[in-house]
Amino acid sequence: MSPLIEPPLIKLNGVCKVYGLNDTEVRALWDVDLTIQQGEYCAIMGPSGSGKSTAMNVIGCLDRPTSGTYHLDGEAVAHLDDDALAHIRNRKIGFVFQQFHLLPQLTALENVMLPMVYGGTASAERRDRAISALEQVGLGDRMVNKPTQLSGGQQQRVAIARAIVNQPLLILADEPTGALDSHTTQDVLALFQALNDTGITVVMVTHEPDVARSTQRIIWFRDGAIVNAHLAPENIGHLTTTG
Ligand SMILES: Nc1ncnc2c1ncn2[C@@H]1O[C@H](COP(=O)(O)OP(=O)(O)OP(=O)(O)O)[C@@H](O)[C@H]1O
Ligand SMILES: [Mg+2]
Repeated sequence: MSPLIEPPLIKLNGVCKVYGLNDTEVRALWDVDLTIQQGEYCAIMGPSGSGKSTAMNVIGCLDRPTSGTYHLDGEAVAHLDDDALAHIRNRKIGFVFQQFHLLPQLTALENVMLPMVYGGTASAERRDRAISALEQVGLGDRMVNKPTQLSGGQQQRVAIARAIVNQPLLILADEPTGALDSHTTQDVLALFQALNDTGITVVMVTHEPDVARSTQRIIWFRDGAIVNAHLAPENIGHLTTTG
């Protein structure tokens, strides 16, 4: 199969996301075109309020654009209903957030098993797959711990295990290292790199140039629009997301 005939994994055309009406209208995204190929590792950067998380929510099928089209893995998804979007998210996308979003009353293993509850996987297999995902992120010896018994970096690794347990095509991470120290940040980036090496597409929002430099391509947002979709990591030294 030639890579040239595969559709892009992500293709946004003329995507707008508008919140509110009239006087209170906010153009969170305005006429965004974006293509990301299968297997890429990208960072999204830009000032606060520039539309990065809104774009991630649309890409992640957590939210629909107000107008424009979105094709995910060749399928038009912009106007699907909530159930159809949830189904696509569950099959194709893993999410990682700044604050981990683990359920505190569950163990690491139970947290990682959660996304499989909706997929009809038998319970013994759910357990096996969760164990292997936790081993993949280096937490084979912390499976019965609850989130409060884990460090921030360990909690984020549980969240990454949860994101990969359904074998997604795409990992979306919104400031995944924002709550981590620099050493732990490097561990998380090494994991993303290893996942990308297996062919998983990784798209990550970050405010940190050093984090963005670990990717292949940087997409720069300002005022709800993409001002540069193909910045090379070595060329962002002079750019800042503040101001
Ligand atoms: N649910 C909402 N209702 C109204 N306005 C919203 C909503 N979500 C986001 N916005 C507005 O849309 C714009 C883009 O927000 P977004 O969260 O995408 O920015 P961001 O680039 O992720 O910023 P940050 O770096 O601070 O996380 C902002 O002006 C924000 O106030
Ligand atoms: Mg944001």
